[in-house]
Amino acid sequence: MNASPDPNGFDGLAVVSKPHPHDSAPKHVAGAATYIDDIREPAGTLHVAPGHARSAARGRIVSIDLADVEAYPGVVKVLTARDVPALNDCSPSIGGDPVFAEDEILFHGQVVFAVVAETRDAARRAARLAKIAVDAAKPAVTADDALDRNTDVLPPYEFLKGDPDAAIAAAPLSLSETFRIGGQEHFYLEGQAALAIPQEDGDILIHSSTQHPTEVQHVAARVLGLPDAAIVCECRRMGGGFGGKESQATQWAVIAAIAARVTGRPAKIRLDRDDDMIMTGKRHDMRVDWAAGFDETGRILAVDSKLYSRCGYSADLSLGVNDRAMFHSDNAYLYPHARIHSRRLLTDTVSNTAFRGFGGPQGMVFAERMMDAIAITLGLDPLELRKRNFYKDPTDTTPYGMPVTDNIIHELVAELERTSDYARRKAEIDAFNAKSRILKKGIALTPVKFGISFTLIHLNQAGALVHVYSDGSIMANHGGTEMGQGLHTKVAQVVAEEFGVGLDQVRITATTTAKVPNTAPTAASSGTDLNGMAARIAAGAIRERMAAHAAALWDCVPAEIRFRDGRVFGANKSMSFGELAKSCHLARIQLSHAGFYRTPEIHWDRAAVKGRPFFYFAYGASCSEVTIDTLTGEMRIDRVDILHDVGRSLNPAIDIGQIEGGFVQGMGWLTTEELVFDAEGRLRTHAPSTYKIPTASDVPADFRVALFESGGAREDTIYRSKAVGEPPVMLGISVFSAITHAVASLAPGIVPPLSAPATPEAILKACAAVKARATRGGLAP
Ligand code: MTE
Ligand code: MOS
Repeated sequence: MNASPDPNGFDGLAVVSKPHPHDSAPKHVAGAATYIDDIREPAGTLHVAPGHARSAARGRIVSIDLADVEAYPGVVKVLTARDVPALNDCSPSIGGDPVFAEDEILFHGQVVFAVVAETRDAARRAARLAKIAVDAAKPAVTADDALDRNTDVLPPYEFLKGDPDAAIAAAPLSLSETFRIGGQEHFYLEGQAALAIPQEDGDILIHSSTQHPTEVQHVAARVLGLPDAAIVCECRRMGGGFGGKESQATQWAVIAAIAARVTGRPAKIRLDRDDDMIMTGKRHDMRVDWAAGFDETGRILAVDSKLYSRCGYSADLSLGVNDRAMFHSDNAYLYPHARIHSRRLLTDTVSNTAFRGFGGPQGMVFAERMMDAIAITLGLDPLELRKRNFYKDPTDTTPYGMPVTDNIIHELVAELERTSDYARRKAEIDAFNAKSRILKKGIALTPVKFGISFTLIHLNQAGALVHVYSDGSIMANHGGTEMGQGLHTKVAQVVAEEFGVGLDQVRITATTTAKVPNTAPTAASSGTDLNGMAARIAAGAIRERMAAHAAALWDCVPAEIRFRDGRVFGANKSMSFGELAKSCHLARIQLSHAGFYRTPEIHWDRAAVKGRPFFYFAYGASCSEVTIDTLTGEMRIDRVDILHDVGRSLNPAIDIGQIEGGFVQGMGWLTTEELVFDAEGRLRTHAPSTYKIPTASDVPADFRVALFESGGAREDTIYRSKAVGEPPVMLGISVFSAITHAVASLAPGIVPPLSAPATPEAILKACAAVKARATRGGLAP
């Protein structure tokens, strides 16, 4: 820790910046935390299971025969498009997401009907009895299929800086390739779930496992033909969201709401895991066709990249996701000339959606692949090459024209290079590889620069509602949702700090649209930045009123009043916080306040490709060492060192947890998690038996995570902290790079044809390809 006084005056903090455990940690491990399926069911609760056309991915519906479904014992009602009261669409954006398929099947797994039954078992069994005839057409399954067919779900978009074509043509050296990046299943522990309970006058209360209660409320109102005010959506916590419940929790909540509306009884839906994997969208997989011009020292002169992404059958959040992929195609590197072109392809597959990093990881893994390919071609140390290309001057601009003014990547990477002992280990690995025939090692140190703010500017706002009760206990509510990331703990810390009380005196209650309206989704890592500020503003307003009252009681000025250790001090007197609250109440002073915050300084003109879309950047770097077996393709991670920038940490325990979890999720995406669709558009990897996520035993045995001591964010963020939710996913890229270098050690100068994920099979193939090219005397691809 810094010995000199904090320039921000944050030295006396009592609750903020301390490593408090997650407020629900004991409940999580004891099974006492309430998820949707744990809410005590009201008497008469019905259970809902969705059904889809099992035979086809695309085609006109010829007939739907539900007689056997309806006849199944325990079935109360079977819902189809005809039962939708008003609008059969649950899109978060431009439409095109039917709640129930009506005339056409758009992807394999699309919901056609939903069974409402007395038990979940009956609903699920009955759902299998439907006979749906489809006039099946050949689906476009992959991005390549969609390119052949030439179908886009949204218009193309492009960043252009300088003249990349001329600059590549004039460059001393150039490289190009097609690089493929796989998608990713969210695999939240709690699947999609909702419970809808009818209220008076046709109103509906929806408990939903959602990152976006406001959207569930508004879309349910639209679908049911009710005003927003007739619906309340509440979420105490999710068992993980990871972006998969930003827009795609809505359909299930809406189906439960329709069931409640139609039957007049409470209705619950909890997707079976296989259904969840088949019916909900994933991380966008992408094909990147790139070309780069550079000089002999590895300095990049120009980049031309085309991102072709599989969006699926509808737009969903694909505009923002693909924009963010473009925004991160530079990562931490200056491209003097650049074209970043994006096509958002329409395929007959599930609609891909937000996933931790929101497209950023795809853009960034391309940038790092390019760095590795150039380094291997030139025979340079990849870290040296990376450092040569980092943004340097504060006037350096990104391909979208924003100057990088808060750059700390040089210091951060230099420190990690030292603490990870990169140079010595790199030399040892080179020596090992020269001797070892079968096993090969690789090491890579890769940077992360991630832009913080929603690029859809109006989402950068938040509200909070804080109450102080007359006994001094405090209730805080805000628009953000808790999905395990510790948002509620951080916001409670901010409120406790404001009132000078212990964390145990502050309760954060379930997120509900009835307390804070018109909220943004909890996404883009901005939960704490936005809601923490709104809560601080709300608590600060109450504290000021309480201070004024105390000053009047004690005949001093309000500025003399101090709140600390659960007490209030001034004029050589003191009383407990509860006593002051009681006194305020008797004096008729308002002890409740709604706070509101909007991020300053950001603006983005998408059409003109102009502005400052990000309030600031979060930085980080990771160094991974791996060993591969060149005869089997097996891979082991030997050691990982991470140095990550969270500004001035609000809670180091939670931040380190986010960094560890994010890294492991990124590593899984790039190594073992592989989505396989067959030519008929069916997802073949729809259960943990065929889709391999990392488990506790896959966490690197030697895993060293540290927070970068930076003195805090340069911008005026909440206590100068920085967002931490998504950026660490991209720390996992160093594993992919390290594997690339292990394979490349088989033959100097040959760029391994390795796409993501680098599964054992892919590693084995890349080894074989490198060996084959080496014996042919070939060079780069
Ligand atoms: N951490 C846990 N444990 N569970 C999650 O679902 N979601 C991630 C990240 N960390 C997630 C998580 C994603 S996608 C985002 S955008 C942020 O948390 C959202 O929360 P924040 O804005 O409060 O960081
Ligand atoms: Mo996170 S992908 O922004 O929900």
